[in-house]
Amino acid sequence: MHAYPELLTLINTKITETSFGSSPKELYDPITYMMGLGGKRLRPVLTLMAADMFGADVNKALDAALAIEVFHNFTLVHDDIMDNAPLRRGKETVFQKWNMPVAILSGDLMLIRSIDLLAKTETNQFAKLLAVFNDTAAKVCEGQQIDMNFEVMPQVSHEEYIHMITLKTAVLLGASLEIGARIANASDTDAEHIYEFGKCIGIAFQIQDDILDSFGQTAEVGKRIGGDIASNKKTLLLIELLASAHKDDSKLIQQLLAEPNDEIKIAGVLALYQKYQIKAFAESQKQQYLDRAFHHLQAVSVQADRKQIVMQTAQELMQRMS
Ligand code: IPE
Ligand code: IPE
Ligand code: MG
Ligand code: MG
Ligand code: MG
Repeated sequence: MHAYPELLTLINTKITETSFGSSPKELYDPITYMMGLGGKRLRPVLTLMAADMFGADVNKALDAALAIEVFHNFTLVHDDIMDNAPLRRGKETVFQKWNMPVAILSGDLMLIRSIDLLAKTETNQFAKLLAVFNDTAAKVCEGQQIDMNFEVMPQVSHEEYIHMITLKTAVLLGASLEIGARIANASDTDAEHIYEFGKCIGIAFQIQDDILDSFGQTAEVGKRIGGDIASNKKTLLLIELLASAHKDDSKLIQQLLAEPNDEIKIAGVLALYQKYQIKAFAESQKQQYLDRAFHHLQAVSVQADRKQIVMQTAQELMQRMS
């Protein structure tokens, strides 16, 4: 069994060796830039880990793993436009460095290239892989739209939030694992369990992402801290604050949501997060989804020692600072 650092090296080497194209420069430079910015490479690592866990040579899953990372990076290029985000992985976002039309078109091409890469996988399961991939991609778009719809809604329920993050984030972690499992010819039951495991981890992962957006350090997270607050994102933190605030504070929250000065707005909301111990609440929710994930992992029919690395990776992710 291979551990995270080893699989990360495999992915990064593969990225370095892959040319996405060169001309016209305006189209390809942003792709090379984005793919070269690094990041945790979590999704492709999960694909390789799943293939490994179910007994395949990880190299068999490398094209599919890269396909998923390219797809993920495409979603980030477009997400940063949607979220008006200046920073990604500690560097300027593509639409800031170039411009919006370039970010849209380069992103489009990344999506196309990701399907090309998936198609290079040598497998008798390709129809299944494509179905999982496309179903997931459609769900990510649905989640992203719902996320934007929520920005202008005064109230969003906990359930609606979980549904939204399941679509925008969690299904891709599930699919990353399922695709690795399918390449290793895992059974349908095992593929479903590992998908559900990934989905639960993905929900916890997005909760941690929400926590970091308010409580992280720019130098570690590589994003603008407070961006979610500035754009009225209905994160788990804000939903819980809206639900638990006393009457006077509710009024203050409404004023803050309409506050045009981002600095005042972010500082004001952060102070209320402290007052109502919102971070601790989010941490406990994260833990619940991690526990749920482990039940699915337990149900997978491979020897317990083959699950160890996946289990440890999930645990470490929950404590991530970037
Ligand atoms: C960011 O994903 C987008 C979310 C779904 C939260 P990551 O946190 O995996 O970003 P990178 O790839 O490591 O930069
Ligand atoms: C991102 O959610 C989900 C997708 C990119 C599909 P966020 O908007 O919270 O991700 P970050 O925080 O910008 O990485
Ligand atoms: Mg977003
Ligand atoms: Mg974003
Ligand atoms: Mg975020």
